[in-house]
Amino acid sequence: MVAVAILAAGRGTRMKSDLPKVLHPLGSRSLVERVLDSVTGLNPSRRLVIVGYRSELVRDALASYPATVEFVEQTEQLGTGHAIQQLLPHLEGFDEDLLVLNGDVPLLRPETLELFLTTHREKANPASILTAHIPNPKGYGRVFCDERQNLQAIIEDRDCTLEQRQNQRVNAGVYCFRWKDLAEVLPKLTSNNNQKEYYLTDAVNFLRPVTVFDVEDYQEILGINDRKQLSESYSILQTRIKDHWMAQGVTIIDPGSVTIDDSVTLQPNVIIEPQTHLRGKTAIGSGSRIGPGSLIEDSQIGENVTLLFSVVCDSAVQSETRVGPYAHIRGEATVGSGCRIGNFVELKNSQLGENTNVAHLSYVGDASLGDRVNIGAGTITVNYDGVNKHRTTIGDRTKIGSNNTLVAPLTIGEDVTTAAGSTITDDLPNDCLAIARSRQVVKPGWRMKEKGDS
Ligand code: UD1
Ligand code: CA
Repeated sequence: MVAVAILAAGRGTRMKSDLPKVLHPLGSRSLVERVLDSVTGLNPSRRLVIVGYRSELVRDALASYPATVEFVEQTEQLGTGHAIQQLLPHLEGFDEDLLVLNGDVPLLRPETLELFLTTHREKANPASILTAHIPNPKGYGRVFCDERQNLQAIIEDRDCTLEQRQNQRVNAGVYCFRWKDLAEVLPKLTSNNNQKEYYLTDAVNFLRPVTVFDVEDYQEILGINDRKQLSESYSILQTRIKDHWMAQGVTIIDPGSVTIDDSVTLQPNVIIEPQTHLRGKTAIGSGSRIGPGSLIEDSQIGENVTLLFSVVCDSAVQSETRVGPYAHIRGEATVGSGCRIGNFVELKNSQLGENTNVAHLSYVGDASLGDRVNIGAGTITVNYDGVNKHRTTIGDRTKIGSNNTLVAPLTIGEDVTTAAGSTITDDLPNDCLAIARSRQVVKPGWRMKEKGDS
């Protein structure tokens, strides 16, 4: 068994933000959530998150995390070594390995951590450290080994000589310790360095021998200290996600202009057109063509749907339905199969049956529409009286004329037709025609008086 500790107490000054650095989102999840997720496969016996700067925010953000998380306060942030010192009272008598991860290293692959832990156990040294050779090592601690790859020293970027800075082998900020050995050296740390901090890397320097484990893909260990690094990590994550879906048979036209959260699921033969963004718990069925220019968030899209220049949030659209251009579906709307939701149509918290059309310039909110309903151009549901929302119900095969105003609460039966321009205020039974507008008046021979006429 292994316990995991995540360092999440720092402010992250270089982010220039009041939000703790580890709470900044990288796609659909914060940095610290990503780090926690990366260790799930190790089945840790304990998950200790060290919090400090605005710790209540970090605690709140992880309150609904699916596994048990223990929080350890580091009231003053005096360095990564000082952070780990705070574990001493919590891990008294603990006799297992401790995996330590910086809270700002979100791209680690679970397989990498598994291999790292296996290697640590095989070598059975007091400590192991994850390292990589990276093209731009600026800001990272440099790792120096002898010719037999035994660790000699980790030296922080700011404490390096010019020559030492040339070393491109860096400390990932991920370590595995035999806790008993670490606990012995932790009290010996001093802050005698450029930053006047207690470095966790010095604890590693006290332990011998140390296993040095190189990661093949250096991108996995990129740490996030500023907004530029946040955006670079986002691109790396996006490339991973899109490569994955393309390998699964999804066409992504112009991947550079598309973003997909890693919580999204796509069936083979989905086509993602340019400038399209898929977020949250979105799922898209086979044969659907999404975009160009669309945003789908936390929504389920069936098979063979086309969705053009449209926005869908917290909603579901079933198979064979055509959406857009310029439709907005939101607020737990559900659209049945074979529907047509056209230009400049907004659907909110409404349920549409099958083969129902709302094709042009409409607002349908808090409504239930049956099957084969047709809503004429420019129709709106008047769902809000200024205080409360009210529902509109429309039965199967009913045809609402163009430019109707449906004043809710309202129930309209099946096989009803309403005349164009009607303002419908009263319920309508099945099988009827409703005309709710004043009659047209025609006055033969009438003309506007000309100027100067008496
Ligand atoms: C650290 C390592 C460096 C490594 C790099 C990898 C040290 C001394 N240096 O540097 O060798 O190459 O990570 O990304 O460890 N934190 C606390 N309490 C504190 C200070 C920091 O919890 O008192 C947390 C931060 O919130 C952060 C993590 O520790 O999640 C790392 O701190 P950071 O200041 O980013 O360290 P680096 O300078 O990047
Ligand atoms: Ca860092």
